[in-house]
Amino acid sequence: MTAPSIRGRKIDRQTEQPIVMLTAYTMRMAQLLDPHCDMLLVGDSLGQVIYGLPSTIPVTMEMMCAHGAAVVRGSWHALVAVDMPFGSYEASPATAFESASRIMKETGCAAVKLEGGEAMAPTVEFLSHRGIPVIGHVGLTPQAVNILGGYGARGREHPEAEKIVADAKAVDEAGAFCIVVEGVMEEIAERIAAEVSAPVIGIGASAKCDGQVLVTEDMLGMFERTPRFVKRYDDLAARIGDAARSFAEEVRARSFPTSDQTYRPKS
Ligand code: KIV
Repeated sequence: MTAPSIRGRKIDRQTEQPIVMLTAYTMRMAQLLDPHCDMLLVGDSLGQVIYGLPSTIPVTMEMMCAHGAAVVRGSWHALVAVDMPFGSYEASPATAFESASRIMKETGCAAVKLEGGEAMAPTVEFLSHRGIPVIGHVGLTPQAVNILGGYGARGREHPEAEKIVADAKAVDEAGAFCIVVEGVMEEIAERIAAEVSAPVIGIGASAKCDGQVLVTEDMLGMFERTPRFVKRYDDLAARIGDAARSFAEEVRARSFPTSDQTYRPKS
């Protein structure tokens, strides 16, 4: 998968086969997800999911590069995109180029993602014209949590809805090869998908998108609390707890290890 092949899935504002994207932060998870996905996103959500941070704000370039490289090593089919962390791209297009080129060199990823609409359009254009495929991200943009005041759905009021549509159009015109639209009312997602030429990948943005992305640990049921838009396809937290309980019981009962798991000289 390449940026042009993803972009080419939307023709005349229509996408025949929806685009499938999941997050991945480790090599083994990438290997497991890769055959099923068009794109793997090394999201800065790793701040919360892997590092237990309160938000994506403290996520560093070092974290993104280390996990990005691991995911690239575990994938051979899907396009791997890496999130640009907060503070690594907002100051200027030149700063963004420095950060994005470092991410691409150190990880081998095929694209970067950055949050923001009209204000970031010149940066999206600057990077796209210099060999860096960019995924836009509008609507609920978690790096702006301190401005937005929380993680609730966006665009309930008319002026904000119009702003989100304008943001999507701006990054589309600037050359983003696809656009993540997060946490918006269905009508906004529907309008954006109809009005921009790049594929729109929704998360909490209804079925009216050209594709869908979820945080893998959310859809696997690793967390007790997930946003309303998440569907749990498994209950891994419970299954991991069961496995750990069985291990603990067997160790305490001295029934693990058995001779099957014991090295002995060959007779
Ligand atoms: O950081 C992330 O995982 C993301 C997705 C939720 C789109 O940006």
